[in-house]
Amino acid sequence: MSNQAKLELDGKTYNLPVVSGTEDEKAVDVSALRATTGYITLDEGYGNTGACQSKITFIDGEKGILRYRGIPIEELADKSSFIESAYLIIYGHLPTSAELNTFSDLLTSNQNLHEDMKYHFESFPSSSHPMAILSAMINAASCYYPDLMQGDRGHFDEHAARLISQVRTIAAFSYRKSVGKPIIYPKNNYKFTANFLHMLFSDPYDDYEIKPEVARALDLIFLLHADHEQNCSTSTVRMVASSQANMYASCSAGVCALWGPLHGGANQAVVEMLKEIHASGDDGSKFITAAKDKTSGKKLMGFGHRVYKNHDPRAKIIKKACDEVLVALKIDDPLLNIAIKLEEAALKDSYFVERKLYPNVDFYSGIIMRALSIPVEMFTVLFAIGRMPGWIANYKEIADDPKGRICRPRQVYVGQPLNAYVPISKRK
Ligand SMILES: CC(C)(COP(=O)(O)OP(=O)(O)OC[C@H]1O[C@@H](n2cnc3c(N)ncnc32)[C@H](O)[C@@H]1OP(=O)(O)O)[C@@H](O)C(=O)NCCC(=O)NCCS
Repeated sequence: MSNQAKLELDGKTYNLPVVSGTEDEKAVDVSALRATTGYITLDEGYGNTGACQSKITFIDGEKGILRYRGIPIEELADKSSFIESAYLIIYGHLPTSAELNTFSDLLTSNQNLHEDMKYHFESFPSSSHPMAILSAMINAASCYYPDLMQGDRGHFDEHAARLISQVRTIAAFSYRKSVGKPIIYPKNNYKFTANFLHMLFSDPYDDYEIKPEVARALDLIFLLHADHEQNCSTSTVRMVASSQANMYASCSAGVCALWGPLHGGANQAVVEMLKEIHASGDDGSKFITAAKDKTSGKKLMGFGHRVYKNHDPRAKIIKKACDEVLVALKIDDPLLNIAIKLEEAALKDSYFVERKLYPNVDFYSGIIMRALSIPVEMFTVLFAIGRMPGWIANYKEIADDPKGRICRPRQVYVGQPLNAYVPISKRK
């Protein structure tokens, strides 16, 4: 294996160093390219650009592998919890019992929003999308911590725990607000995911009964979403953090990036697509035809991935969990039958096969969330709750890097050449 790449430009040869990762992925280091050659690289959509070297998550999209800090997602899904995996992702190792207890206590002691934040919720219209509220409220939360306002990057553990814990409280409050119900405060004796269900579904006069299979399925959804290397929202978090913006501002930007239907918004879009197919009486075949037609404006939502050119390992785990939850809750969801038919048809269709389009994590996660009575507008919010540890771990890598530089891509300008200002009276 060569440790240098040769580049020929304008009759000259340049040697570029080759960097290898732990799993032997290779990159040509172009960091000195412009200084030595005057050229930059162009890679719209960043499909071939490594923006950083990271120790958090490994993905092999060709083989369908996902590991947090080296541990396969299948093993974590089977043996770990969201909170334990969050610790692993942020701090780089599985916690001891003492570390896990300290982390849990920190999450519990930071789960309540500052009481004044309740008034912010009042000012959103009831039609607001909870992702808009979530992003705004995460940013607003930073205003209550003067150390952050002074640019202090200390108190990491406390702020990280507060964000993980409060994103769930904010999410539940925004849902209650959207349905015109009173806010339910978290309880100290509930674990992370059970507490979220309590804040979503209890009433002041009637505690919601938390079924263990429901709490476990939701915890699994959080765990499976906890990190996914340099996706759109995580790259956004790193980009914002590189300007030395605080952790709340950086993660709030991540929420905005996640909202779009090509990213976290896909789980909501999948269920809406399945409902549309169901309402039209189609068995899915008409929709598949439309999804292959670029002029139709339709895509098979929940299919395809920038990195996975094989089965998304999270999709396999979610599909199994989906089957189990529906049986445990005795739910017969026609949308699940449509999803299964769509998957079978797409996996046999040459359009999807040739483009290596497989079901991704969002294809079945929406069906589980429906079964758990989570409202559809909350689906992407749940993704954000799950992704918070990954955003924080990536923020930490940026904040802890003494050689860190602001992220600032270049461009190839294709606009007007030098042009003159024309006074308004002379413009045609
Ligand atoms: C995830 C996604 C944004 C990846 O985008 P990408 O890496 O830029 O993939 P591309 O757009 O280059 O796709 C390659 C080809 O497959 C097609 N394609 C990709 N996803 C498709 C889908 N879900 N349905 C139909 N066609 C799809 C593209 O149109 C393109 O076709 P072409 O080669 O004829 O032009 C894309 O697959 C998508 O939009 N999927 C649906 C949304 C979704 O589920 N997002 C959640 C991701 S976890």
